[in-house]
Amino acid sequence: MKDRIISGEKMSDDSFEKSIRPESIDEYVGQTEVKENLNIFITAAKMRNEPLDHVLLYGPPGLGKTTLAYIIANELGSNIKTTSGPAIEKSGDLAAVLSSLEEGDVLFIDEIHRIPRFIEEILYSAMEDFTLEIIVGSDSNSRSIHIDLPPFTLVGATTRAGDLTGPLRDRFGIINKLNYYSEDELQKIAIRTSKVMNVKISDEAARELARRSRGTPRITNRLFRRVRDFALVMGNGDIDLEITKLALDRLKVDSLGLDNTDYNLLKSIIEKFDGGPVGIEAVASSIGEEQTTIEDVYEPYLLQTGLLKRTNRGRIVTKKAYDHLGIPYKVSK
Ligand SMILES: Nc1ncnc2c1ncn2[C@@H]1O[C@H](COP(=O)(O)OP(=O)(O)OP(=O)(O)O)[C@@H](O)[C@H]1O
Ligand SMILES: [Mg+2]
Repeated sequence: MKDRIISGEKMSDDSFEKSIRPESIDEYVGQTEVKENLNIFITAAKMRNEPLDHVLLYGPPGLGKTTLAYIIANELGSNIKTTSGPAIEKSGDLAAVLSSLEEGDVLFIDEIHRIPRFIEEILYSAMEDFTLEIIVGSDSNSRSIHIDLPPFTLVGATTRAGDLTGPLRDRFGIINKLNYYSEDELQKIAIRTSKVMNVKISDEAARELARRSRGTPRITNRLFRRVRDFALVMGNGDIDLEITKLALDRLKVDSLGLDNTDYNLLKSIIEKFDGGPVGIEAVASSIGEEQTTIEDVYEPYLLQTGLLKRTNRGRIVTKKAYDHLGIPYKVSK
């Protein structure tokens, strides 16, 4: 998939994210329920002097899973070690990470749904009893060894909770879903980012950024940086509403945060399939995208904003989408 400015997924030039990541629960905007619960569990774990239960964070890209994992470690006063599903190819890879843990550490495994199934089992005993069972040697000569691990907290993040096996999911004591952010929250994030980056932004400009960010902080921050460039070159460096609108229009991000790909998707369902219902496979092939990309990247926001509906007969484009695209609405069968 080509880089889209309004993709929630990480892009190559998002490395600046680290510098604007909130580091404490108080600085983390929104997700109130998740924060309040975590706060209680973290405080209780500290009072009991025990490790925090394992935490699973799931939700669409760019909503703050990685950020929250680091915050959890910070709030616990623990060290964090990080790895990711795709980086774990052999059981030895996971064994090496686990055996490097020290008491109370947070182990963050990003994209945890991508750990190969045959390796996943190693995690079960590590999570449950803090033991590591590994087979050493080969074939006739192999034996199983048993290593005690120090108590630790696993924080797993995934965009696809449905892809986790039951046994793995069951071993997380705390499971949190991150939701899309409201305009208010994204506006706060834009203002927070402006302070960290030392750029002036008006409230209305921050609101406009928020409105076009698809409920996603990563997109707010990314748009912020691009708008900042426009403000610098075409104005005096301060970000006001006018420059924000101009920049976002130039970047082809519309008033709902939709771009050409969204238009393509919605229009192709309207034009080729009469607005639906249509199966996801047919949509995927008609716009030349992978089915999983549509499901993970494009669709969640379109469903969330009510432009698209998922029924058991397939996807349906709603009246709201017709109106937004300026296409006369025909009631679908
Ligand atoms: N609640 C929040 N408050 C303020 N900023 C946030 C918040 N959540 C996310 N951000 C900002 O958005 C950026 C992206 O967040 P993060 O990398 O944590 O997303 P993610 O859910 O891990 O995404 P992915 O699924 O791609 O790994 C962060 O750099 C951070 O600056
Ligand atoms: Mg992440």
